Amino acid sequence: MQKVLAASGVCSRRKAEELILSGRVAVNGQTAAVLGVKVSGSDKITVDGKPVSAVKHIYIMLHKPEGYITSARDQFNRPTVMDLVTRYNTRLYPVGRLDFDTSGLLLLTNDGELTQALTHPSRQVEKTYIARIKGVPDPEEMERFRKGLRIEDYVTAPAGIHIVKSFGENVSVKITIHEGRNRQVRKMCEAIGHPVIFLKRVATGRLYLGDLPRGDSRELTGAEVRYLKGLGKK
Ligand code: URA
Repeated sequence: MQKVLAASGVCSRRKAEELILSGRVAVNGQTAAVLGVKVSGSDKITVDGKPVSAVKHIYIMLHKPEGYITSARDQFNRPTVMDLVTRYNTRLYPVGRLDFDTSGLLLLTNDGELTQALTHPSRQVEKTYIARIKGVPDPEEMERFRKGLRIEDYVTAPAGIHIVKSFGENVSVKITIHEGRNRQVRKMCEAIGHPVIFLKRVATGRLYLGDLPRGDSRELTGAEVRYLKGLGKK
C-alpha cells in the first residue's frame, strides 16, 4: 500500500509508512494501520477520508531522440515516442510536444488532470532549451528576442537567451520560454536571423534531463511528481 500511495504522488514512500502507522489511511473504509497491506486497483484507498486515485498514475521522463514524432500514431508511419516507452505497459500521453527534429526532455503520464494543468496556456511552465544557431546574434538581436518578437499573428512573451558556447561561425545559446506554440523556438531564432541547426530541451521548470541517455526513460521520483503537481496548481 505504501508503494501505491507513493506512486499516486500523495507523498514519499517513507511518509506513506508514517501515514499508515498513524492510522490516517483506510482501505475500503477500514483503517489500515499496519504496513504491508496488499491492495489492488479496485480497492478504495483514502487518506484522512480523501480518496487516493484508484488508477496508478505513472510519470515518465524520456530523452527523446531526433527522428521521433510526439504523437500516438503517425500517418507516415514514422517512429513515435510511444515506441520508446512500451516497457511501462500502460497508455501514456505526452505532456506537450517536441518536434520530430527536436531532442530532449519529454514528460509522459497517464494522469490526464496533470497534463491538462501543465499544458494550459495560462500556466505554461518555463522550458529551457539549448540551441545551436547559425551565425552569432548581436546584443540588439538578443534584446529583441528577450522582449518579444512578432511571429505570424502573435507577439512572443518575454524570453531568455544567452550564448553558452562559440563555434566560430555559429554559437550555442541557452533559451528559456514560458509558451509552447508550434515550433516556437525555431520561429523565434529565425525571426532574429539565426535559424536553428539543432534544438534540445534540457529542462521543464526545475526538472532537468541531466545525463539520461538519448532514447532512455525513467520514472520521476516522488519529489519530482509533487513538484510538477505544485506547478500545475499555480
Ligand atoms: N520549440 C520548437 O521550435 N520546437 C520544439 O520542439 C519545442 C520548442
